[in-house]
Amino acid sequence: MKMMKKAAAVLTAMTMAAVLGACGSSEEAETTAATNAETVTEAETQEEAADTEEETTAEAAEAEESAGGVIVMGTNAEFEPWEFHDGDDIVGIDPEIAQAIADKMGMELQIEDMAFDAIIPSVVSGKCDFAMAGMTVTDERKVSVDFTDTYAESSLVLLVQADNTEITGSDSLADHKVGAQTGTTGDLTATELVGDENVERYNSFFEAVQSLKQGKIDAVLLDSAPAKVFLAQNEDLKQAGEPMNKEEYAIAVQKGNTELLDQLNQAIDELQEDGTIDEIMNKYIPAE
Ligand code: ARG
Repeated sequence: MKMMKKAAAVLTAMTMAAVLGACGSSEEAETTAATNAETVTEAETQEEAADTEEETTAEAAEAEESAGGVIVMGTNAEFEPWEFHDGDDIVGIDPEIAQAIADKMGMELQIEDMAFDAIIPSVVSGKCDFAMAGMTVTDERKVSVDFTDTYAESSLVLLVQADNTEITGSDSLADHKVGAQTGTTGDLTATELVGDENVERYNSFFEAVQSLKQGKIDAVLLDSAPAKVFLAQNEDLKQAGEPMNKEEYAIAVQKGNTELLDQLNQAIDELQEDGTIDEIMNKYIPAE
């Protein structure tokens, strides 16, 4: 019985290493597989020594839990409520959904925080297994990565200083300076609207908003939920006009990794069905 468990644990770890395939983390997963094998052996030795039934069960459960290996998510944790820092932790809607997905896959979730425009390259190179960053599905991104089914909707909105009377929406933006986080749809859309020379790019939307408050730029173009968070925190800002478009968020994986893509889609589907995703979203985006 014990031997079978051990064999199963090692097998699962090896299968996961295979699924992660070309990912740089496959090496990591293999190491994890080896480490897990050791852990299981260790647990066994301890198990033999342990005489209470409870302890044995707890240890076996622990060994099994990590047996699936590690799955690495790339994100940019500067995007409340989707992902942000809470002390040393990275929290938000995406990390919670990702954790629920990893739990379903029997894998340990590891989050890598990086610049937004480094996320897709990190999936392409295999440094990360998947990207989850309030990331909008776009045709351009589809050239380099594959997207799962969508799990949320969003739109772009304009933030301006509360006393601004000139900017009333996207059609009154001409010749104004618009800020956005580098590489986001806010950046790309602003570039279309006002031209490259009028777009100011920042490492985070927080920095863009600081710049707006200081009057260095005239507007910030960003996703609706983060915009709401900034509005709640800054009375000197307001939204100009109506939401501009409809965008959809999805998880990105390396092109051609259909095995992982299918697993993610399956998990998303189940978490949508059983209400988990709604529950997580409602926790971070209170209904008006
Ligand atoms: N939805 C936008 C995009 O995909 C912005 C995403 C920014 N996300 C982040 N974690 N900073 O371009």
